[in-house]
Amino acid sequence: MFKIIVVENYDEASREAFKVMKEVIDSNERPVLGLATGSTPIGLYKKMMADHKTGTSYKKCITFNLDEYIGLPKTHEQTYYTFMHDNLFNGLDIPEENIHIPVGDSANVPAECIKYEEAMKEYHIDIQLLGIGGNGHIGFNEPGTPFDTLTHIVDLQEKTRQDNARFFEHIDEVPTQAITMGIATIMKSKKVLLIATGENKADAIYGMIKGPVSEACPASALQNHNDVVVIVDKAAASKL
Ligand code: GLP
Repeated sequence: MFKIIVVENYDEASREAFKVMKEVIDSNERPVLGLATGSTPIGLYKKMMADHKTGTSYKKCITFNLDEYIGLPKTHEQTYYTFMHDNLFNGLDIPEENIHIPVGDSANVPAECIKYEEAMKEYHIDIQLLGIGGNGHIGFNEPGTPFDTLTHIVDLQEKTRQDNARFFEHIDEVPTQAITMGIATIMKSKKVLLIATGENKADAIYGMIKGPVSEACPASALQNHNDVVVIVDKAAASKL
């Protein structure tokens, strides 16, 4: 079930998302947060860091990130490990042992996928934050991903590599594979918070909410989740 909140702009989207996130954090003894990368959550992360600066502790939080590139050393400037530390964790007080990000330079990536999924079994994600790809991907679950997948290895589509090439010096440097939570993993979280802004997300948002539930649009799986808050600006909502 979707609760759709349409806002004017990116800043308002971040403000609304912060309210939803904060409510979950405040109402849980040990909040388990599923976190995402991409440009979309940066505004929300800024608000969380500002909240910490005013005295709120995030020590009790446990986090699991959605995905990570395969093949880049952990400290490479484009890993999601680096992204998360630069854009959130270095500005909060979550103990490092509470932070979980798939290890993309593991010597045994298939084993890492199993280990990651196992670690999530111990906890139950209270809120999973998501952005959405222009082709409807969530995490790195590209169109065609079966809905029953758990954490797994994906081959990145050319479109996704091109979208992400802006962060690298050359497209050849963009990894070709990633580890991602699967759609079944995402569906297990108690609540989903998906943020999308800008016209280039309008088709994906339409497919997610109004399209058929189909592997062609991975986000459409969320039609079968009972608690999804979607925060969209007018441009992303323009095709609804
Ligand atoms: C990447 C990430 C996704 C993210 C998507 C959209 O592919 N793996 O988790 O949702 O990009 O990114 P952005 O928020 O920058 O539009």
